Amino acid sequence: MKKLKNISKVISASLALSLVLAACSDKEEGSSNNSGGDKDEKVTIVYARGKDDTQGTKAMVEAFEKENPNIKVKFKEMPADTGKQHDAYVTAFNANSDEIDVIDLDVIWPAEFAQAGFLMPLDRFIEKDGVDLDAYNEGALSASKFKGKQWALPKFIDAGMLFYRTDLVGEGEVPQTWDDLLAKAKETKGQGGTQFGYLLQAKQYEGLVCNAVEFIASYGGKIIDENGEVKVDSPEAVKGISKLVEIVNSDVVPQNVTTFAEPESHTAFINGQAGLIRNWPYQFALANDEKQSKIVGKVGVAPLPSGDAGSAAALGGWMAGINKNTKHPEEAWKFLSFMAGEKGQKIDAIKGGHAPTILSLYDDQEVLEANPYFKEEGFVNALEAAVSRPVAPNYPEISDIIQVQVSSAIAKKITPEEAAKNMQKEISEKLEK
Ligand code: GLC
Repeated sequence: MKKLKNISKVISASLALSLVLAACSDKEEGSSNNSGGDKDEKVTIVYARGKDDTQGTKAMVEAFEKENPNIKVKFKEMPADTGKQHDAYVTAFNANSDEIDVIDLDVIWPAEFAQAGFLMPLDRFIEKDGVDLDAYNEGALSASKFKGKQWALPKFIDAGMLFYRTDLVGEGEVPQTWDDLLAKAKETKGQGGTQFGYLLQAKQYEGLVCNAVEFIASYGGKIIDENGEVKVDSPEAVKGISKLVEIVNSDVVPQNVTTFAEPESHTAFINGQAGLIRNWPYQFALANDEKQSKIVGKVGVAPLPSGDAGSAAALGGWMAGINKNTKHPEEAWKFLSFMAGEKGQKIDAIKGGHAPTILSLYDDQEVLEANPYFKEEGFVNALEAAVSRPVAPNYPEISDIIQVQVSSAIAKKITPEEAAKNMQKEISEKLEK
């Protein structure tokens, strides 16, 4: 229980700090105004999220449909890249589309989506069903609130972690610092059928921002401080960016690692191509999925390596919300509250390896059996170090600046110092608006 409190406290503090598929939203028969309770009617709702390579989403949808035979959930697969996914929703919702009923939102979107009026507030549903909001991790819950209203409910928390092959990296050999990581990656590269030493996400997209945040924070740097001031032009941030540039340009990563997002990196890892990878918690379930992984039972988890200031994980996570223009608010809510509720989160933790936002699930035997590391120090430490990305209504613009500058430093078009200076100037200008 102590651990749970830690997780809750830290994530909440961390968040507080920085803070169209042919239309399917149709009833198959008849028409109804509310719940799928009428036995003669079957309502189809469309649920959109990025591709889920784990079994989590499929298992949740199946369980929901079994419990609610009058509601069919049609899955709409969105781009895996969160930025591209974001843009697709913005386009659809700006056009007042009602094609999608329920969406998953990245932790960086709720304020923007709420302000843009894309979502339906959930407060009346929450009240009607007596949903116990105290059961949720405080930080994750507050990230889905905006101007006093609850626009989404959190489904899972993400924090960047180090996953390693236990057949290549012995107990007591897990890299503690970024330099240890480089050495271990060099040593294990080529062993046990591997081609690479280390995998990360270095493509120019949101995942690179998360990796950069981790490097910068592990050297004591910040992009924006507690008071909302841009602080990225600092020796600490430059050290972090320099280490990222060094690793991405080293020979332990794939030569084309600047084209790697999560899918490319997790695929290489589960195919047995590398001994070490930085990824989110779902990596554990995926690596132990007998249907797709060649490394079942050979995966360990640890906090990311430390820089001068310690280990730092970027804070991520996803929540579910309802399209304001849905024709099926009641059915959409039923599905959303199932996914974000205890039953859905339990299934997703077991089948998808996702870290729940409902705290009692960290005491659930089946959840812990599937994810033994949820009770380990390493996991708690990673969550404890979780660092939020800047919270701003125009976050996508800030993210773009970071993506461009860090990518230019990686490509050695500019130095890490120049990248930090440029970010300082450009982010400050954006925040002033
Ligand atoms: C994960 C995180 C999300 C982040 C994304 C970056 O999905 O949960 O918050 O933006 O990765 O690729």
